Order: sequence, then C-alpha cells, then structure tokens
Amino acid sequence: MKFFIDTANLDEIKEAHSLGILDGVTTNPSLIAREGIAGRKAFEKHIKTICELVAAPVSAEAVSMTFDDMVAEARTLSQIDANVVVKIPMTLDGLKAVRQLSEEGINTNVTLVFSPLQALLAAKAGATYISPFVGRLDDISQDGMKVVEEIIDVFANYLFETEIIVASIRNPLHVLTAAELGADIATIPFKVIEQLAQHPLTDVGIDKFLKDWQKVEK
Ligand code: G3P
Repeated sequence: MKFFIDTANLDEIKEAHSLGILDGVTTNPSLIAREGIAGRKAFEKHIKTICELVAAPVSAEAVSMTFDDMVAEARTLSQIDANVVVKIPMTLDGLKAVRQLSEEGINTNVTLVFSPLQALLAAKAGATYISPFVGRLDDISQDGMKVVEEIIDVFANYLFETEIIVASIRNPLHVLTAAELGADIATIPFKVIEQLAQHPLTDVGIDKFLKDWQKVEK
C-alpha cells in the first residue's frame, strides 16, 4: 500500500518524507486555509514548493464548479509541476471534466466519494485516483471502510487503472483495514503516521534494554 500524507504543512511533509515511507501528498482547500495561505498565487506557489520537496503525486484541489471552469482551472494547476494531480469533486460537471482532462493526459483525483456507484462513475470517466472519505462516513454512523471494501470488490470485476485512495483517515485502524483490504493508497494525517509507529511494549522494551546496558557498562 502506498502512503500519502494528507496535509499542506511543509514541516509535516518534510518530516514524513525523511522517514522514507512517503509516496505522495494530498491537500484540500481546508488544509490550505489552515496554513494561512492567502490568494491564488500563494496557493499555486505552495503547491510548487510541496512538489519540490516530494518528487511524487501531489493533489491540488480545483474549486470551480462548472465543466468549463474546472477544465480551465485544472489545466492551470497541472502546469505547476508534472506531479500535480488535480482534485475534482464528484459531481456531474466533475465527471465531464475528468473525461476531458483524462484525454488531455492530466491526472485527476475524484474527491468526496462516498459510495461504490460514485467510484464506478469516476473510474469510467477516466479518473487516475478516487478518494472515498471514510472518516466522514463514520461521522454519520455509516461504515466508511465497508464502502472501501465495496469499491474494491466492484473494481475487481473490471480492468480500471483507477487507484483507490482511502481518505479522511482518522486513526490507525483505518490504515490497518485499508491495508488488509488491499487498497492502493492511504492518505494519512501526520498525527496518525506517528501513531502507526508507536507501541507501549516498544517503549517498555527500550527502557529495559537501556537500564540493563547500564549494568554492562559499569
Ligand atoms: O483527504 C481528504 C481529507 O483531507 C478529509 O479529511 O478529516 O477533513 O474528513 P477530514
């Protein structure tokens, strides 16, 4: 499973990259706003900076809502760097835009996917990636990982090249289940990446080994 980091914070991206496990980055307008980025130019510059830090797919979200505007915005975003993937919302205009962009060789990530039928439509339109949001489904008492399982089952019947990014991950169990199901990618907040590495018995074990080593050194 590929690990993407779900953040626009440069320090978090640098730190995750230094671990040697990072395969890409996803951002969205909320994550961009959290970094205090003001203005379109600053947004595009920030995406360029991320692309310079990580030579891997970097998702940048289009905020246009009509086909023509989405395609124009996606073309501009795709000029920032060869690794930019344009996030397109799962709407009818979004599907049309994904088809057009796919024909132009622009990589897309269809975002805000909440059902296997939405995923199927996006894959048929030629999406490079689809992003089911598991945490937001859990928030409304629907099993987000069950939806990922359904999408994987549907895609297994066909020959789509579309990759599944498990998104809106909130905890290590989401990552474990994504890996058990064989999802292509999990996009993970930095805090959860840190949590994945932690185990209390590791800490207890290190403590004991270091204490015992003091006896050897004396
Ligand atoms: O990748 C999508 C993600 O950023 C959404 O996460 O926690 O806002 O539902 P969340």
